[in-house]
Amino acid sequence: MFKIVLKRELNPAVTLLEIEAPFIAKKAEAGQFIIFRVDEAGERVPLTIAGTDPEKGTVTIIFQKVGLSTEILGGLNEGDCILDFVGPLGKPTQVAGKKRVCVVGGGVGCAIALPSAQAFKKAGAQVDVIVGFRSKDIVILEDEFRACSDNFYLMTDDGSYGEGGFVTVKLQQLLEAGNQYDEVLAIGPIPMMKFVAKTTEPFGTHTMVSLNPIMVDGTGMCGCCRVTVDGKVRFACVDGPDFDGHKVDFAELMNRNCVYKSQDEAAQKRDHACRIEAIGKTLIQ
Ligand code: NAD
Ligand code: FES
Repeated sequence: MFKIVLKRELNPAVTLLEIEAPFIAKKAEAGQFIIFRVDEAGERVPLTIAGTDPEKGTVTIIFQKVGLSTEILGGLNEGDCILDFVGPLGKPTQVAGKKRVCVVGGGVGCAIALPSAQAFKKAGAQVDVIVGFRSKDIVILEDEFRACSDNFYLMTDDGSYGEGGFVTVKLQQLLEAGNQYDEVLAIGPIPMMKFVAKTTEPFGTHTMVSLNPIMVDGTGMCGCCRVTVDGKVRFACVDGPDFDGHKVDFAELMNRNCVYKSQDEAAQKRDHACRIEAIGKTLIQ
């Protein structure tokens, strides 16, 4: 069992948990992910690692409560335990040898963009960061990004904080102003990653995106996480999750990620209250 040692609500929909997992905390690198399962009846859900503390033996995850499993996870509290927490899985983000990078984070994807920005900085790169949120009230991790970036740009869709517009507006401005990057790394909703790649393409800027397809085993055996990159089938869990954004088939990824949407919505309606209640009883016993 894996114990929750810290819980913070970052905004009404996004929760941070620090989980006691000393072996993962020692080994994990930026860009890698874990798969959790709350209990025997739970589904296996991948989450990219948002941070580690090897000395405390903890791993930080930040997630949006969007489906039944993340709703249940978000309902747990400090001191509660979850059944499975497996990792680190996937390949780390390649940070070595890059002199100047731009990390682009969108919404809750910023939780994953942060450790990558920190890792680039630690490896000696100059790091520009662009983050985007729908509005001021859901901005997360601003201080942490400011601390690890040379230039920091905050965008809101409605202009209620920072500058108005999508992250791609700022990225376009920076590229048009002559800024040259060894790499742009984009992490966030699929449409954002797709349009970041479209923005950088005319400038010939190498662009990586961190993909989050549906996963089951996380070890390359089930084929559930397959994505098409450069016309070839790749498994995000073992070949990724980072891929060349100019070569990803985003339309296919978007379709595959919607496959279980209606089942998840039905499960949320049907199971949510009774599972939360059942888990609560188990934890009290
Ligand atoms: P959101 O829809 O609020 O978008 C966040 C920001 O992304 C926006 O403020 C905007 O700047 C940018 N953006 C969105 N659509 C864009 C477009 N068409 N063109 C250019 N920029 C665009 O994001 P959210 O609701 O916080 O994110 C949730 C999504 O992020 C979920 O679908 C989740 O699966 C995904 N996510 C992905 C990862 C990953 O590893 N790639 C990690 C966590 C979450
Ligand atoms: Fe099964 Fe990747 S999750 S092959």
